[in-house]
Amino acid sequence: MIKNILITGGAGFIGSHLVRYFVKNYDYNIFNLDALTYAGNLENLKDIENKENYNFIKGNVLDSELLNHIFLNNNITDVIHLSAESHVDRSISSPLDFLYTNVIGTVNLLNTAKSFWKVSKKKANDRLNIFYNISTDEVYGSLKKEGLFTEKTPYSPNSPYSASKASSDHFVRAYHKTYNFPIIISNCSNNFGPNQFPEKLIPLIINNILEKKSLPIFGDGLYSRDWLFVEDHVKAIDLIFHKGRIGETYNIGGDNEMTNIDLVKIICLLIDEKLQNKNGESEKLITFVKDRPGHDRRYAIDSSKLRRELDWRPSISFKKAISKTIDWYLSNSIWLKNITSGNYMEYYNSMYKNR
Ligand code: NAD
Ligand code: TYD
Repeated sequence: MIKNILITGGAGFIGSHLVRYFVKNYDYNIFNLDALTYAGNLENLKDIENKENYNFIKGNVLDSELLNHIFLNNNITDVIHLSAESHVDRSISSPLDFLYTNVIGTVNLLNTAKSFWKVSKKKANDRLNIFYNISTDEVYGSLKKEGLFTEKTPYSPNSPYSASKASSDHFVRAYHKTYNFPIIISNCSNNFGPNQFPEKLIPLIINNILEKKSLPIFGDGLYSRDWLFVEDHVKAIDLIFHKGRIGETYNIGGDNEMTNIDLVKIICLLIDEKLQNKNGESEKLITFVKDRPGHDRRYAIDSSKLRRELDWRPSISFKKAISKTIDWYLSNSIWLKNITSGNYMEYYNSMYKNR
């Protein structure tokens, strides 16, 4: 049966990698719904924009009429929901945006999908197969020195971003429990790779090194994250979408935990090597700045369920992936320039001027 998949947020960082992967590897019809906020960029999808099985729709997940229209006219069979406000620092300054897009937007999409799921069931059609919610490990809160997040770890979000993602996960799960609506959720650790907007740590550090600006490290720099290359996240989504069990949650992580300061030093070293800079030139730019309020100390994820059940594991080492990522930014200076012109500087100055 031909699938007509609605992917939301497909012009963003992870979404664009996912859309490209599905358009290239399957003959499914892909409908990419994206509001093109500051984080959405159609440049990310230039190489596939003319493919026959790819359709872009500019629009907001808060727009019920549009959602209804999309489901009605395209016989949507599955949803992979990524659209979100995704940056913790922005959630601290504008929490309501996160409530609207991440919580209300998700419930709006659930409602529309559910109404068509019932319709197609009545038609003895193959139903809406899956509503797949792409979520984050940040919903679990912060870890002490030891331990890992498992799928059973209670939600304990600390930032407005993670609170909004936790809330959307709860709604998705509740639609399954209450209506038997077919959902899956995955919670992934920090992603990195090409096309990531330079407000997140790795692309911000690369961009600042290239611009010879200071490298802002929040607090003592000993906060740690588990980093996963975006293409490996996409492969996990592909597996979960096709083979995951309905109603289940899967953790996705790279088994690759490091402190922010160690990570930034690795990036400095690699860029110095690649650009044949003097030894230690980039590291000199490191500047410790005022901490993020409510900053989660440590994230680390146990992805053994996904590895055991679906035989997933990261395909590329962190070393290779970070080198590949830096190479991408070095050879896509126009992408970086376009994205960091205009509004970006306003954002950057407002976030960092008092730190
Ligand atoms: P991103 O900010 O790069 O992209 C988000 C996309 O959603 C953008 O294209 C934006 O235009 C679109 N969007 C925002 N509001 C919208 C709205 N109201 N209606 C329609 N489209 C809208 O985010 P990302 O890093 O690619 O993350 C994608 C998803 O994965 C998010 O749900 C995020 O919570 C989750 N996630 C991200 C990470 C990570 O490290 N980046 C890790 C785990 C989970
Ligand atoms: P970020 O990429 O914003 O992801 P998240 O907050 O979702 O984990 O940040 C990753 C880590 O890097 C986090 O501990 C905050 C820290 N950080 C800095 O030290 N300096 C910065 O300028 C940014 C953006 C983040």
